[in-house]
Amino acid sequence: MHHIQNPRILHTLDRLHGEADRQRFTILKGLSRGIFRPLRPEDMKDAYLPISRDQGRFVYDLLLQNQARHIVEFGTSFGISTLYLGAAAQQTGGRVITTELLPEKCRVARANFREAGLDPWIEVREGDALRTLRQVETDIDFLLLDGWNDLYLPLLQLLEPQLRPGALIYTDNASFRSARPLLEYFHSQPERYRSQRLADDKGGSELTQFMGLVKQGQQQLG
Ligand SMILES: C[S@@+](CC[C@H](N)C(=O)[O-])C[C@H]1O[C@@H](n2cnc3c(N)ncnc32)[C@H](O)[C@@H]1O
Repeated sequence: MHHIQNPRILHTLDRLHGEADRQRFTILKGLSRGIFRPLRPEDMKDAYLPISRDQGRFVYDLLLQNQARHIVEFGTSFGISTLYLGAAAQQTGGRVITTELLPEKCRVARANFREAGLDPWIEVREGDALRTLRQVETDIDFLLLDGWNDLYLPLLQLLEPQLRPGALIYTDNASFRSARPLLEYFHSQPERYRSQRLADDKGGSELTQFMGLVKQGQQQLG
C-alpha cells in the first residue's frame, strides 16, 4: 500500500481533518436550515463534509496503483479530498482539476493547497460544476464525485465522452437516495461500467470502472 510520506502534506491534512472532526455543531446548524426547504450548498458554507482519513488513504493508494494522471473532482469544499488527489498527482506526474461552487471555500482551499505545497498540481475551478467542467482538456483517468449528489448523473454524462477506457470513478455518499440515478445508470450498463460497493457506512462509497463506449451490436470502441 502506498502512503503519503511528505511531512508538509501530512501536516496540512492533519490540521484540516482535526478541524473537520470538531464540526458537529456547524453541521447540525447547517442541516437545520434544510428542515422546511431543500438544503442548499450555502447552508453548509462553513462545513468541511470531508471524506474520511481511510477513504483518503484508499484513494491515494488507488491512484498510485493505477498511475492515474488526469484527475477530476466534483466538490472541493476546503480541499481535504483534493489534498489526497494532489499528493497522488505529484507522484504520478499528473494534475488535478477540482471544482467548488462557493467562492469562500475556493479561497480557503487554495490557501490550504499552498500550505501543503501542492498548488502547482491542483487547478481550482470556481462555480457550478456543470459549467466549470464543460471543458476538460484531457482524457480523464480518475473522477471523484463528492458534490451535490443529484448532480452526479448529469455530471457523469457531461464527462463521459472524456473518460479513458479503464478510468475509475469513486462515488462518495453512494447510499444516499439522490445518488441512485447515477448508480442505476452504472448498474444498467454492465458492459460499459463495472461497479462495486466499497462501503455502506458514513453515506457509503462505490468504485466504478469505465470499460469504454460500446454501441449495441458493436465491439468496444474505446
Ligand atoms: C461533501 S462536500 C465536498 C467535500 C470534499 N470533497 C472533501 O472531501 O473535503 C460537497 C461540496 O460540493 C459543493 N457543491 C455543491 N454543489 C456544487 C456545484 N453545483 N458545483 C460545484 N460544487 C458544488 C458544496 O459547496 C460542497 O462544498
